[in-house]
Amino acid sequence: MNIIITGASSGIGFALAKLYANPNVTLGLIARDSKKLEIITELCIAKGANVYVAAIDVTDGEALKSWLLDFDNQFPINLLIANAGIASTLNKNDLNESWEKINEVLNVNLYGVLNTIYPIISLMQSRNYGQIAIVSSLAAYRGMAISPIYCASKAAVKSYGEALRSRLKNNGIQVSVICPGFVQSNMSDVYPGNKFMMISSEKAAKIIQNGLIKNKACINFPFPINLAIKLLCFLPDKLADQLLNFFTYSKY
Ligand SMILES: NC(=O)c1ccc[n+]([C@@H]2O[C@H](COP(=O)([O-])OP(=O)(O)OC[C@H]3O[C@@H](n4cnc5c(N)ncnc54)[C@H](OP(=O)(O)O)[C@@H]3O)[C@@H](O)[C@H]2O)c1
Repeated sequence: MNIIITGASSGIGFALAKLYANPNVTLGLIARDSKKLEIITELCIAKGANVYVAAIDVTDGEALKSWLLDFDNQFPINLLIANAGIASTLNKNDLNESWEKINEVLNVNLYGVLNTIYPIISLMQSRNYGQIAIVSSLAAYRGMAISPIYCASKAAVKSYGEALRSRLKNNGIQVSVICPGFVQSNMSDVYPGNKFMMISSEKAAKIIQNGLIKNKACINFPFPINLAIKLLCFLPDKLADQLLNFFTYSKY
């Protein structure tokens, strides 16, 4: 089995790489930090996996495409996990996100995902098999004042993944959208609000792997936060905003 994971140098991507590593797997691991990639490479090799790493920024579409096509030429990709992402959060009294930050988040979280997936779709279509997993977030379901552009970027990739799933199913390609709640990682370490029901990256990776085995359309977790965010969408917007702000910033 040949698997690509972007954002494999830390957090959820790191845990996924470790989980998938076994003697029957060739892993292509992508992130910017080559030192951290060395750590995950050693761990995966110790578990018997064949590992190729690339220190590539997912916003560099040409470099990513060229590396992915080269990898796919030797190891036709079975599973492509577009996981790399960054956050942008605001404290209660911050004015707004900067234009630079907005561009950075969209470039990584939206265009980075497209740069990862797009070059491989037609190859999977020609083979009539393949699985694509897009890491979005439960934040995709409702815009939150703590992270406006992050929520928007995650809503965009969620929507894209849902559309791709329906579009590609006749080509034998499976597409899942992954929407985690709070997961322990470098990203959540700097989140300024409350982190309800946070789970470890290892537990998140296991839930994701199980969901992908079942070819679930949406892999949303944990269940109570998934339910809460969906119920929130039925409330009048004013009440939903008040509740979100209260639960997000209540420790301040
Ligand atoms: N943690 C949570 O609570 C949570 C909740 C919902 C969704 N998510 C999503 O889960 C995914 C993984 O996040 P995480 O929590 O594991 O955070 P993390 O520990 O900060 O990991 C993010 C990964 O993305 C990589 N990355 C960031 N920018 C990149 C770029 N421009 N090019 C290539 N790689 C890049 C990072 O590697 P380098 O820095 O080495 O490039 C790192 O490997 C993200 O898409 C995030 O939005 C996380």
